[in-house]
Amino acid sequence: MRRVPLGESIKIIAQGSLNWFTDRPIVVSFEVTDSCTCYCKHCDHGGPRDDSKVLKPADYKKYMKVLHPCVVQVSGGEPLMRKDLDEIIRNIKSDSGVPYIILVSNWSLMTEERYLQLKQAGADEFCVSLDFPDERHDEFRGLPGLYRHLSQIVPKVAALGYDDIVMNNCITSANVAEVNAVADKAAEWGVNINFSAYSPRRTGCRDYFLNTSEQLSVLNEGLSKIKKRMNGSHWITNNVSTLDATIRYFSSGGIPACKAGLRWLVVTSDGALQPCSMQFKRYGLHEQARMVEEFTRNNTCDQCYVSIRSYLDKTFPQLVHENVSEFFSFKPRMKDNCRASS
Ligand SMILES: C[S@@+](CC[C@H](N)C(=O)[O-])C[C@H]1O[C@@H](n2cnc3c(N)ncnc32)[C@H](O)[C@@H]1O
Ligand code: SF4
Ligand code: SF4
Repeated sequence: MRRVPLGESIKIIAQGSLNWFTDRPIVVSFEVTDSCTCYCKHCDHGGPRDDSKVLKPADYKKYMKVLHPCVVQVSGGEPLMRKDLDEIIRNIKSDSGVPYIILVSNWSLMTEERYLQLKQAGADEFCVSLDFPDERHDEFRGLPGLYRHLSQIVPKVAALGYDDIVMNNCITSANVAEVNAVADKAAEWGVNINFSAYSPRRTGCRDYFLNTSEQLSVLNEGLSKIKKRMNGSHWITNNVSTLDATIRYFSSGGIPACKAGLRWLVVTSDGALQPCSMQFKRYGLHEQARMVEEFTRNNTCDQCYVSIRSYLDKTFPQLVHENVSEFFSFKPRMKDNCRASS
């Protein structure tokens, strides 16, 4: 994965540190639409929604001025459904290069031209969902032809050489046996890979959680192999501590002490603040402090270990250490010679 240049790294880390000590969010996830091109089995979005009240591109500048996150996720629904997405991104990015912007998308609507426009607008990283290393992805996502499209567009765009694409594999009971095959596919396509964990909280369905000891040993075995393949390089973007916590999450059925609302929060498509995408108590733009008092300080929910949480549920020294040593450009990059599966 491309390392963030030194100048930008310093600004992002400085903003993040300030936010940490002033109880402002490190990461904000803007859900720019509720509509979607897919109908995924593990998700509560899916298909068209009423988007008549969505924020306009210029509104995002106002949210940035109040919340000042150092990292922004642009998500949904399916964000590429917004025809004005590059304008949204331009309004989120400041002249100083902060925040670091991650576009989280299923790429059903991605083209080479659009990728370049979004980069030009300020997107730093493209996070692309991949549940299976073959056409089972279409069945799980309810969109025929999606895998074929990904297998064409992802390597094509990766060949441009920006090294800013990360496939995101959400581990469920349906695909737990595939973690190394999905990593192989990312390697074949010339991109990076990140693993996250299914949460039953979105749909209320526990079928895709890892419910049996057999599933847990498949996870253990698969992630042990993944850890060996990391070998100090950063093409697998998880930290070892995050993969270990993912195993703990599935084994124990939850991870307590969630800091949603404080360390990160969601801005809904119509502009409300929510602690996360699975807690629906809504607050106004200037009410983050109230959300922390009412929600975060009393939160007992332990029902997910999604990426945003897994990266931020850490102590401040651990967070700085992991990001400085593994992500930002303070350390020389390892050679990417260790992607082979065996
Ligand atoms: C909600 S989607 C929005 C962006 C885009 N539509 C996509 O699928 O990438 C963001 C991420 O959430 C993941 N996701 C969906 N349902 C989930 C669940 N129940 N638990 C954990 N992650 C989930 C998706 O796989 C995807 O990687
Ligand atoms: S996971 Fe993403 S692509 Fe799938 S239904 Fe949810 S929002 Fe849409
Ligand atoms: S554990 Fe935290 S981030 Fe996850 S669903 Fe519960 S409140 Fe939201």
